[in-house]
Amino acid sequence: MSSEIQWVWHQGQLVQWSAARAHVTTHALHYGTAIFEGIRAHGSPRGPQFFRLGDHLRRFAESARLHRMQLPCSMEQVRQACHAVVTANRLEAAYVRPLAYYAEGPLGVPKADTVQLSVIPVSGALPLVNAELGSVKLGVSTWRRAGGSHALPAAKASGAYQSALLVAREAKLHGYDDGLMLDDRGCVCEATAQNLFLVRDGTILTPTRSAPILLGITRDTVLQLATALGYRVSEEEVPRGWLYTADELFLTGTSSGVVGVGFIDHLPVGDGGIGRITRELQRAYQAATRGESFREKAWLTAVEGDDAPARPGGDTAAVATRRSALEGVSP
Ligand SMILES: Cc1ncc(COP(=O)(O)O)c(C=O)c1O
Repeated sequence: MSSEIQWVWHQGQLVQWSAARAHVTTHALHYGTAIFEGIRAHGSPRGPQFFRLGDHLRRFAESARLHRMQLPCSMEQVRQACHAVVTANRLEAAYVRPLAYYAEGPLGVPKADTVQLSVIPVSGALPLVNAELGSVKLGVSTWRRAGGSHALPAAKASGAYQSALLVAREAKLHGYDDGLMLDDRGCVCEATAQNLFLVRDGTILTPTRSAPILLGITRDTVLQLATALGYRVSEEEVPRGWLYTADELFLTGTSSGVVGVGFIDHLPVGDGGIGRITRELQRAYQAATRGESFREKAWLTAVEGDDAPARPGGDTAAVATRRSALEGVSP
């Protein structure tokens, strides 16, 4: 982990990175019983700004609800903790990961009162694919995306990422950057951590909201940007065959941005580079995250709070200082 990160929000307070630990009986470690979010704060001349923070927090609350998990604090406290980890670490830009999990306790059915919250800041890139790579290669996975009768695809739950890892590993074995999952009926869903879009004859298509996909916030942003740019957009069932005749394919996600797909199952998409409309949406998305265009103000939240530097090798006094700056945040 980057040496830039010294402070993590853990169990109601900012603690040093090395102190943010969990016990071996942590329920989530055994059964994947955790929910999380991935939120970006983008750098700007005015300091870091969260992009669509309210929407990410809403999805976090909904993931908890879908899994009948009682968070140990209010959503306002989660929001404040997101701000706190960016300011305490003096990050100019960050990926912030709120995580709620069933902590140590008896194995078996977890006890409701063992849920803990951590908010972890990350300063480097996470994703398998990202916009800086140029266009990427995707392969359709032999693994299927579990539908609503087997899982809760709309929840961002840790256990679901076990199958994402199988998909990613299989994709790497076959020389792809990432894998694409179909549903049980063979319709296109999404990549391991990105939603998929197709462009055909100037229309922008993406799997429908009722497909077993995570309802990506970048997906929604891109749908809004594309509409504002005058494109026809459609959320509908996407049969696998459409992948191979699309003019352009691209992926969207918070950590990766808008990423062009150059090859699908080793077949070139268009000329194998990044398509014209994909590039236009990449520019529009970047401009939106910088607050330069289209609805920018409503989507951005300036990171605020105590920005005192973390003491190297910090001590309890340093923790106490940060706690008092965040009075009311601890559960
Ligand atoms: C399975 C899955 N699909 C899609 C996405 C994209 O969602 P968002 O744009 O909200 O980051 C993610 C990212 O979290 C994901 O994990």
